[in-house]
Formats: sequence, structure tokens, C-alpha cells
Amino acid sequence: MPATILVGAQWGDEGKGRVADWLAAESDVVARFGGGDNAGHTVVVGEKVFKQHLVPSGILHPNVVCVLGNGMVINPVNLIKEMDGLRANGVDVSPERLLISTRAHIITPAHIALDGALEKARGDQAIGTTLRGIGPAYLDKTGRRGIRAGQMADVEEFANALYDSIEQANATLAQHGVEPLDPQGAAAVYVEAAARLKPYLRDTSVYLNKRLQAGARVLCEGAQGTLLDVDHGDYPYVTSSSPTAGGALTGLGFGPCHVDRVVGVAKSFSTRVGGGPMPTELEGELGDRLRGTGEHFWDEFGTTTGRPRRCGWLDAVVLRYAAQVNGFTELVLTKLDVLSGFDTLNIAVAYQIDGRRYDYPPSTMAELERAEPIYETLVGWREDISGARREGDLPEATRVYIRRVSELCGTPVRTASVGPERDQLVFF
Ligand code: IMP
Repeated sequence: MPATILVGAQWGDEGKGRVADWLAAESDVVARFGGGDNAGHTVVVGEKVFKQHLVPSGILHPNVVCVLGNGMVINPVNLIKEMDGLRANGVDVSPERLLISTRAHIITPAHIALDGALEKARGDQAIGTTLRGIGPAYLDKTGRRGIRAGQMADVEEFANALYDSIEQANATLAQHGVEPLDPQGAAAVYVEAAARLKPYLRDTSVYLNKRLQAGARVLCEGAQGTLLDVDHGDYPYVTSSSPTAGGALTGLGFGPCHVDRVVGVAKSFSTRVGGGPMPTELEGELGDRLRGTGEHFWDEFGTTTGRPRRCGWLDAVVLRYAAQVNGFTELVLTKLDVLSGFDTLNIAVAYQIDGRRYDYPPSTMAELERAEPIYETLVGWREDISGARREGDLPEATRVYIRRVSELCGTPVRTASVGPERDQLVFF
């Protein structure tokens, strides 16, 4: 059976967690392929709200095996915390259900300290990172001096590698006027976590290929989003990995022949957290209305950092581009219910930059920062749609909105979410 790739079509936070939870019910294996605990996935199961940063949402389905792939950067201490939290909620996180690639890279205390120091040094050019050490960990990976998860198998070797990493980072930290870390003190809790993670280490590429050949259904669960991709996103306001469909293959170690479905997840409006361009951003009352007050977990405040997200109208230029980069076979639109009550709804259909029309985002920051959205205005709807389960339950104006999104990005919208509960989905 083939693999499905699930990726974010915007700047992350599209609601991939709940879509992954839905698709996991039809999967045997769910595998994360990139990023680390910069991600935050929220899944609601009855009364319980699960907020996960590293472990794929699939863990909530008892028959699913979860994989942390080689493309990831893993903070062992935070992984242990998350596993303990899941266990406390009755979720089985035994080594039969959770596999960690020996080729994944480790985030060290040095990476976290460096992330903070480098962000501070950027001043008003700060990227607005999640301060989880993601960038510095990938920098060490591509610089061929990183620590791989497989090294946790030998706790002494792992401890020594950690001390070296911290000592090397101390020189850079000193240049930025940051207090050096005490290698032994900072590493102790990491070494403890490594000893507990040892039974989970596997060659996950071999495992996934065997399962695929035996007919298993594999869901590749993306984190972040297309516009945060280090190659295809708004560089330099990006993360340091490849959250796009191509990244799923390099981040898990199997070939494209196995993939037959690429699901893009887009929120029904735009949000972005951190710095960087966002042509359809709304300030003032409209933006506040889309964001919500923060009293509900589904309001637009970061799952990982708690930061308020920037909000704006749906940007079809971004979605068209994401469909192209990832080769979407279908699109899921999330949080459609939040758009109820607006008299009119705008969708950006193109940008205007220096008098020229752009159907795709330009690649330079200078051009993007001058981009003016060209809007198409649609009639809104007043009805509460949170109880809709079939296309026919939706008001005509909602259906027109969805059809227009499909046309503008050349990808069929097959599913929409109309609330946070597992069953609040409408299929088309
Ligand atoms: P980093 O991944 O922590 O280095 O952050 C780089 C950029 O990506 C920042 O703008 C972050 O806000 C953004 N980012 C990273 N992970 C996520 C995510 O899961 N959702 C939304 N934005 C993210």
C-alpha cells in the first residue's frame, strides 16, 4: 500500500495535527520527517486536549506505529517529558509503538543557548524563532559536526559528544556576551534522557521500506509549512528544514514510487507567527476577530510559544505556490467555522509589485515586502456551520468560497473542518 504525505500549505499552524489524527485512523504507520519541538500539534479526543511537539499525532491510535524520522532534530529531554505526559494519559508509548531514527540529529543545550544569542544579535532583523535550538542543530548537521540519535546507544560516547558540543558553543556564546554553559551540569539531564531512549533507536528507513513493501499504509506527517521551507519559503524568515513533500522522502528514506497522495492543509484564512512578509495581514479589528481572544485553545496563539499569531485574509497566491511546490492531490481547509459572521470575505488572487501582476510569490524579500494583494471579494455567511457534516449542510456562500479556493489554487478541496472536535469534518 502506498504512502500519503501531509504538509502545511501556509506558514505552519494550519491545523495539521487534527488532520493527521483523522488520516492516522486509516494508517498503519505515522512518521514525522522534519523539524523538532518547534512544532505544536493539538488534537482533541473527547474531554482531553493533547498538545504534542515531537511525537506524531498517530500515537493516539492504538494500532499505529509512530516514527521520528532521520530528517528530524530531537531534544531528548523534551521527548521524554512528552512521552511521560502521554503515558500519564494512558497512551502506550513503548518501543514497539515509537521508533526513533538512529540518523536523526540531537538538539543540545548549546543549540538552545545559541538560538537565543543569535536571535538577539539579529536585532530588528530577528526571525522570531521558537528558541528551541532548531537552526543551530541543523547548522551542525550540515556542517558535519552534529550528534546523531544513534550515539545515544552508548551513553558514555553520547556524554562526551555533548560536552564537546557545549565547549565549542561556549566560544561563540562568549562572542555574543552570553555566560558560558557548564558542560557537565547542562548535559546531565540529557544523558539521563538518552539512557531511557536507547530502546527506541532503530534504522527507521529500513523499517519503513519493509513495512511499505509488506503493504502497510504510511502517513508522513509534516510540521511547519511550505512558506517556512528553507528552500521554498520566505528566506531568511524560514525554519532550517524542508517541511515540503520532497522533505518527506529525504527525511524518511524511501523513494517517490511509494507516494500516491499529497494532502495540503490550509487554514481558511492566513496566520503567521514570527517575522517575515505576510501580504494579506490585517491589523486592527478584523485581525483581532480572526485571532480570537486566547481563551480557547483553538484561538490564534502559538502552541509552542504562546505568541499571538498575525492574522489576515486567505492568500491564494501562497496556496497556488504551495500546490505547485508539493504537488498536492487534494486540499483540506481548516477552521472554516471562524469565517461565519463576516459580511464579505476577501481572498488575495494575485500580488501587484511596482505595477506588475504576480500570480506566484516573488523569490526576493525586497519584492515580497512591496507586494500589494489584489483581492477578490466574496459574499460572507452568517450561519453557525459547526454542526455541518455534509456539503449540503453548508450555506451556498460557504460552498462558493470553497469552490473559489479550489479554482484559484488548481487543487480540489476535499475536506473542511468546522470545529476542533474529531468529527467536525465535512467531506466533498
Ligand atoms: P525555528 O524553526 O524555531 O528556527 O523558527 C523559524 C521560523 O519558523 C519562525 O518564524 C517560527 O515562528 C517559525 N516556526 C517554526 N515552527 C513553527 C510551527 O510549528 N508553526 C508555525 N511557525 C513555526
